[in-house]
Amino acid sequence: MQDFINDPRFAGIKPFEKKVWLSSPTMHGEEQKWVDEAIQTNWVSTVGANIDAVEKQMAEYLGVKYAVGLSCGTASLHLATKLAGEKLYGQAKPNAGTLAGHRVFCSDVTFDASINPVAYEDGEAVFIDTEYDTWNMDPVALEKAFDIYPDVKLIVVAHLYGTPGKMEEIKRICDAHGALIVEDAAESLGAKYKLNGAWVETGTLGDYNCISFNGNKIITGSAGGLFLTNSKEDADKVRKWSTQSREAAPWYQHEEIGYNYRMSNIIAGIIRGQIPYLNEHIAQKKAIYERYKAGLSDLPVKMNPIDFEKSEPNYWLSCLIIDEDAMAPMVRGEQDYLYKSEHGKSSPQEILDAIAAFNAEGRPIWKPMHMQPIYRTHPFVTIEGNGRGRSNAYIAGSGVDVGSDIFRRGLCLPSDNKMNTEQQDVIIDIIHRCFW
Ligand SMILES: Cc1ncc(COP(=O)(O)O)c(C=O)c1O
Repeated sequence: MQDFINDPRFAGIKPFEKKVWLSSPTMHGEEQKWVDEAIQTNWVSTVGANIDAVEKQMAEYLGVKYAVGLSCGTASLHLATKLAGEKLYGQAKPNAGTLAGHRVFCSDVTFDASINPVAYEDGEAVFIDTEYDTWNMDPVALEKAFDIYPDVKLIVVAHLYGTPGKMEEIKRICDAHGALIVEDAAESLGAKYKLNGAWVETGTLGDYNCISFNGNKIITGSAGGLFLTNSKEDADKVRKWSTQSREAAPWYQHEEIGYNYRMSNIIAGIIRGQIPYLNEHIAQKKAIYERYKAGLSDLPVKMNPIDFEKSEPNYWLSCLIIDEDAMAPMVRGEQDYLYKSEHGKSSPQEILDAIAAFNAEGRPIWKPMHMQPIYRTHPFVTIEGNGRGRSNAYIAGSGVDVGSDIFRRGLCLPSDNKMNTEQQDVIIDIIHRCFW
């Protein structure tokens, strides 16, 4: 890493005494009360009043009939994907996944937990390229994917960094093809979307919906997740699967494969204490986004885009993308990188290193799934059709790959809601100096 502290471009800037985080937990005190109550009343288990309260309050907040408390968002996504697989293709044998032999269309620029459950269920993820308007699944590429794979009946769609994607178009396309939707709202709890003229919450837009209370999320229980649905049958099934699929017998009796995925009443206590602060956290994150937007407006960069007519994000993470002609040379290997500083230009890795040198945490844009070594052999569909093998001179099309472009030019900025305005000003200053 370059020596940013002694680089004359950064003269006069001092490292933060306390690290400024990307997005860390923000406790308020009430969490302790509910955790203590669980311990004092001996409800230290996967049943208890905190779980009941979290399920009830979140279902009310989000406007769904049922919320099922689970150990994490990944568990919710797994059971949601399995439910969809079972509905579409029937119950699988204990040693097989419900999606064996089937493809599933998936968001490409997302955290791998969104789409790994497709593999847990023996399905093949087909990655759908991203659009520039919200950095989410591109409906045009999705339509192309249905042209190429007309038999597909399931999609998994995420809302990156808390910004809702183009769900109206995506739902219309899925309806036309009779496909079900698993919605991954892990990052977007509290974000709103205007669906056919009515504002609704993300986490209610799919046939099976999931959120996360991971430590870096907008509210947290250190862990935890919810499965959200209006179907009592689905809610009951997820509750059953998550508690080892016990049948109603005096002994342990099993007719289906089970999981130990239920939420703990201790974790639920922390989440219960956080719920009253969800809107406050969103407001703080929004202020951070707006401050970055104003503070960086004179640079050749843009903030992560939002469709304000159709969505109100939760502003979980603020990001920027560098204009193409202001990109300094940067190359990334599988685990390392190299860049050059150039006057008037910068690169995501230079900015991330500079921020880190002064004790603040940013992060590269989530590396697209189609670029991940583990999924390198999986299909990838762009607005031009098949996105694999487009670099040959005889192949028509430009080889467009929006996800890899956003990954190359973008980065996530420190977005912690405990970051104060002076600290944010210093980060904005550091970013400016990267372009000197
Ligand atoms: C988009 C997305 N999906 C799923 C998850 C997984 O949630 P959890 O960590 O609660 O398992 C995360 C983050 O952790 C995420 O960002």
